[in-house]
Amino acid sequence: METMEKRVEEKLDNNYDRLADEYDKTYHFGPRAKIRNLIIFSTLDKLLQEEPKKVLDAGGGTGFFSIPYAKKGHQVVVLDISERMLEKAVENAKKNGALTNVRTVRGSMDNLEFPDHYFDVILCHLAFGYTEPSKTLSEFHRVLTQGGYLSLTVANKDFHIINESLKGNLIEAGKILESAIFRQSPPGIPPIRTFTRSEIVKLCTDARFKVLHVKGIRIVSDYTPELPKETQTLENLEMKLSEKEEFSSIGRHMYLLCKK
Ligand SMILES: C[S@@+](CC[C@H](N)C(=O)[O-])C[C@H]1O[C@@H](n2cnc3c(N)ncnc32)[C@H](O)[C@@H]1O
Repeated sequence: METMEKRVEEKLDNNYDRLADEYDKTYHFGPRAKIRNLIIFSTLDKLLQEEPKKVLDAGGGTGFFSIPYAKKGHQVVVLDISERMLEKAVENAKKNGALTNVRTVRGSMDNLEFPDHYFDVILCHLAFGYTEPSKTLSEFHRVLTQGGYLSLTVANKDFHIINESLKGNLIEAGKILESAIFRQSPPGIPPIRTFTRSEIVKLCTDARFKVLHVKGIRIVSDYTPELPKETQTLENLEMKLSEKEEFSSIGRHMYLLCKK
């Protein structure tokens, strides 16, 4: 079993090693990524204000979401299994003049080599679907300070059921609906596990987190193959929709803010 897990990690690791050079350019820019990033950064800006915090960016890759806060004085650890992604994180930290506040650690987020109550904030964005969920959440809970926050994004299984149905792929939609675990990913990315809203909320509450909010990320944008040329109106709509919990179960991703 351990050997199989190791093989899966090595496979992912290699994939992300290969993606590392182009990762930020490919996956963090463009109108859809912008909507996702606006929603995440608007929450992080509130969590990470003046007082320096200890931040773990779990499955943090190139440090895209955490390095801006290292630049503002927070102490950031970027943890990832891909050596090459971590090298990019160091490059990004250097470019941002934030190297003294960034440490990279190679390891798996379901087995953290940090003491209990060590971090004030954990970020886990676009990476949770690669790990054993309960084990990872229990590790996150252990290393967080009492009252600490977990900023977590996961891919939404229900989005794919609706999306396939809208494309007329009803058999595929039915298969996704019936599948116990459905993995999906944008082109080029290793398949990542999706969750329904109730699954992820239950996993977090079972791990003794209080779920403060669940926001939908890209509630309408990813159902349309072509986005309008002018995207400001769409961004405004998506920001407003993300505040409405009743829409959170239909967007492409779900964004949970949890408190220990
Ligand atoms: C889609 S990328 C997201 C990177 C970053 N969080 C971001 O949003 O830019 C997923 C990252 O998770 C990492 N990863 C996958 N499984 C992991 C594990 N078990 N522990 C730590 N990192 C892992 C990959 O190497 C990759 O860098």
